[in-house]
Amino acid sequence: MRTRVGIVGGGPAGLVLAHLLHLRGVESVVLEQRSREELESEIRAGVLEQGTVDLLDEIGVGERMKSEGSVHHGVNLQFDGRRERIDLHELTGGRAITLYGQHEVVKDLIQARLDAGGEILFGARGFELHDLTTEDPKVRFETDGSSEELVCDFVVGADGFHGVSRGSIPDNVRVEYERRYPFGWFGILVKGPPSTEELIYAFHERGFSLVSTRSPQIQRLYFQCDPNDDVANWPDERIWEEMHARLDTDDGWTLEEGEIIQKGIVQMRSFVCEPMQHGHLFIAGDAAHIVPPTGAKGMNLAIADVRVLYEGLIEYYESGRKELLERYSEVCLRRVWKASRFSWWMTSMLHRFDEGEDFQYRMQVAELDYVVGSRAASTSLAENYVGLPMENLPRTRDRETAERSAT
Ligand code: PHB
Repeated sequence: MRTRVGIVGGGPAGLVLAHLLHLRGVESVVLEQRSREELESEIRAGVLEQGTVDLLDEIGVGERMKSEGSVHHGVNLQFDGRRERIDLHELTGGRAITLYGQHEVVKDLIQARLDAGGEILFGARGFELHDLTTEDPKVRFETDGSSEELVCDFVVGADGFHGVSRGSIPDNVRVEYERRYPFGWFGILVKGPPSTEELIYAFHERGFSLVSTRSPQIQRLYFQCDPNDDVANWPDERIWEEMHARLDTDDGWTLEEGEIIQKGIVQMRSFVCEPMQHGHLFIAGDAAHIVPPTGAKGMNLAIADVRVLYEGLIEYYESGRKELLERYSEVCLRRVWKASRFSWWMTSMLHRFDEGEDFQYRMQVAELDYVVGSRAASTSLAENYVGLPMENLPRTRDRETAERSAT
């Protein structure tokens, strides 16, 4: 088998890249370990930045997102018995976020790829990447019990944190940065109406909690927990008791309960791998970086990566120039580090690190009080939350023309 771009991983990064390339006539093959059903049912994040929404819309997969997703113009911070709204829309010159589950995005992308005759191989296993520093890098894998080899011009590793791609960058070139947090998130999906129109991020003596949504009928709630805890320790009544203790306010507002249809514990870490390129291998999304979910950046970062990669690949296929492609890692990492900083900051401000550490607790309340009370500080939160502007990437040819006309 031969293709131009071999994409390992059929999550949002791999599928968006495949579709972007297809729209410019560049063929690719997506190889995915999971089945289509698994991929389409995995519950992950749900917040889309404005730039992500605009991109999905531009590539023609935004229809269901626009009719079923819900646009939020603000978020709430709750602490010290108060709930304060950050007006994202007003503070960012009209930007907003859209709540729409990652697996819904994946469903729309798979449908669009298949409708366009795109190739996605589900259930492929045992990936190995070879000859990455040559002009003919290869992906070896197994499917239906037989061994296959996909020869490509470029290999894209969009195979998640536990995939093989990152490890294919040699140890002596790869630097990994990591921060683990001493807590996890207990997440539940609830059948029932929303308790609030906009998300609530709450800081409480008992720990962080978050009220989010998936649709008018399905709500998504989280609370900070021990990362080694077990869902078996949390019968429904105990979950509701804990959520009420952290969220209910004196003015009579109370969290709406409903039927809990799923429970799980999410681990929290920050992780960045440098560089994100080695020869003809480019890594993207969770394969290259992980952020804790507090800033809601994971899927957005993955999509921002492949947008940069797409620009570089198109420049190469249209003019034979590799300048933009060679800048992939540098351009992506600047955004990745800024999003990592934001996610780390939100996480640090909103979680209980050490019970009984009253000074730390007071510092966190003071910081929240400052953030909601200062226009400068709320603007900083808002512009990061809706997503920093996408990089401006003039093609090398356009840059040269601009430089020539400037002199
Ligand atoms: C979610 O709805 O799953 C969600 C929302 C906001 C976050 C993280 C997760 O910061």
